[in-house]
Amino acid sequence: MKAIDIRNKFLNFFEKHGHKIIPSASLIPENDPSVLFTTAGMQPLIPYLLGAKHPEGDKLTDYQKCVRTVDIEDVGDNRHLTFFEMLGNWSLGSYFKEEAIKMSYDFLTKELHIPVEKLSVTCFAGDEDAKRDTVSAECWKKVGIPEERIYFFGKDNNWWIAGEEGPCGPDTEMFYDTGKQACGENCNPSCDCGKYVEIWNNVFIKKKKKPDGTYTKLTQRNVDTGLGLERMAMLLQGKETPYEIEIFAPIMKRLEEIAKVDEIQSRRIVAEHLRSSMMIIADGGRPSNIDRGYVLRRLIRRMTRHLRKLEIDLNEISNLVDLYVENLKEMYPELKENKEIIKNVLIEEKNKFMRTLENGEREFNKAVERIKKEGKNKIDGQTVFNLYETYGFPQEITIELAKENGVELELEKFDELYKAHQEKSRLGAKQKFKGGLAEQNEQTTQYHTATHLLHQALRQVLGEHVKQSGSNITTERLRFDFTHPQKVTPEELKKVEQIVNEQIQRDLKVTCEEMSLDEAKATGAIGLFESKYGDKVKVYTIGDFSKEICGGPHVERTGEMGKFIIKKEEASSSGVRRIKAILEK
Ligand code: SER
Repeated sequence: MKAIDIRNKFLNFFEKHGHKIIPSASLIPENDPSVLFTTAGMQPLIPYLLGAKHPEGDKLTDYQKCVRTVDIEDVGDNRHLTFFEMLGNWSLGSYFKEEAIKMSYDFLTKELHIPVEKLSVTCFAGDEDAKRDTVSAECWKKVGIPEERIYFFGKDNNWWIAGEEGPCGPDTEMFYDTGKQACGENCNPSCDCGKYVEIWNNVFIKKKKKPDGTYTKLTQRNVDTGLGLERMAMLLQGKETPYEIEIFAPIMKRLEEIAKVDEIQSRRIVAEHLRSSMMIIADGGRPSNIDRGYVLRRLIRRMTRHLRKLEIDLNEISNLVDLYVENLKEMYPELKENKEIIKNVLIEEKNKFMRTLENGEREFNKAVERIKKEGKNKIDGQTVFNLYETYGFPQEITIELAKENGVELELEKFDELYKAHQEKSRLGAKQKFKGGLAEQNEQTTQYHTATHLLHQALRQVLGEHVKQSGSNITTERLRFDFTHPQKVTPEELKKVEQIVNEQIQRDLKVTCEEMSLDEAKATGAIGLFESKYGDKVKVYTIGDFSKEICGGPHVERTGEMGKFIIKKEEASSSGVRRIKAILEK
């Protein structure tokens, strides 16, 4: 069964069982610069798991685009993916364990026709925070899973939380027995040997973990489930790796044809990172040196490095994008819609990387000259690390060059510096994730409204082609990325600034209305029309000046905002400009 057919079957099944189908949210969490990417289907639904009313009701189902980058270095093996699709069904205070388990079982055995003998399940063993989940185990028995294939494990395996805090609870996981030889007497689903593959997770969310590590009880009992689409397709198609399913197969084949070096790991890395990068770019992500932009940069650079390793002409990137778009356009129409932007961003980033490589090589050669003069044959660890940190020069390439030049590298010292650096970035990333539901305060709220004024003013001055492609707000400034083919002239900027300040002086009232997406479109509201959590959206209206779809919050009247000053206008990426502006009191 093809992945898209599994997706459709899933959505239809849950629709038949009273769920509303909602669209995938963007990979880039909206209005939330503090979270890198959407990492699970439940993430955009957190407010509703915590008790907010979802406009589509209390039973939802969707497919969600996800990016997880903790395993980026593992991509190339036979299972890790950075982009994947997660199918999910949710009960927001409606059904609980029994119904959820029965539906999971029926979907797996009756819709996907997986023989029950192939299924094992795991349940939470219990600890000081929550009881042993005998209820789930009983439900599994009732539907037909024999006791010997029901396992109990602790928090490490059977407890789910996104990051460090937030909604969480015990889960019950379903495993598919690949039929491989057990690795030993104690082989079980928690084992990594490859016999058992996790296919679906049902999380029973009744609690919320607080930053201090304690738990509070939620007002409602929720179910959150996640089924990894690529993995399911792989198993149902009897394949050993996701790279053999129809999503990746045509690209893998093409790479094999055009590569001069036979290296399957590199082919997988190229195929995987290219898909992830395309999906992120289609959702508005652009490479940069921080946060999500940096992740995208790493993906594109790693892909480029492996294309080089395969000795594939880098001009092929454009053809590979064409091939992917053709193959995936039904699953992700946004790829087709953004094909040219995707190509431009990839090519521009590839070119930048090639310049980095040239600079790095020059520095490397200088280091070689220096040590030769000093009568040495080893480049010190600090220099190797500087090449990596300051010049962005990949370590593998340093090693390759060292070999070619017959010099050694002080790698122990490099490792030490590298580890310290990694730890620092890891803590930074964790901090970002923790900030999940970013706090809103007076300043950020004012900047948020200023962004709407800026957006509309830009459209009036530059034209209707101006569309938001990114926004980042701190308490000190706003940053707004938008589509526009050339530099905005100083006169145009002045005009924009003036229009925004006029609207502030008019002390316009800001109002908010909820309506369907179609109604919103009909009112002429601007903003991101796709990838909303539900069909109902909020439209913020600022006097007679702006109407925009947005989650809020906003100021009540524009008069309280202070003076709007544009500080900088620059290129963000090809066809995208960036404005930084402040509100002065
Ligand atoms: N949140 C759970 C997961 O990501 C189930 O959807 O596995």
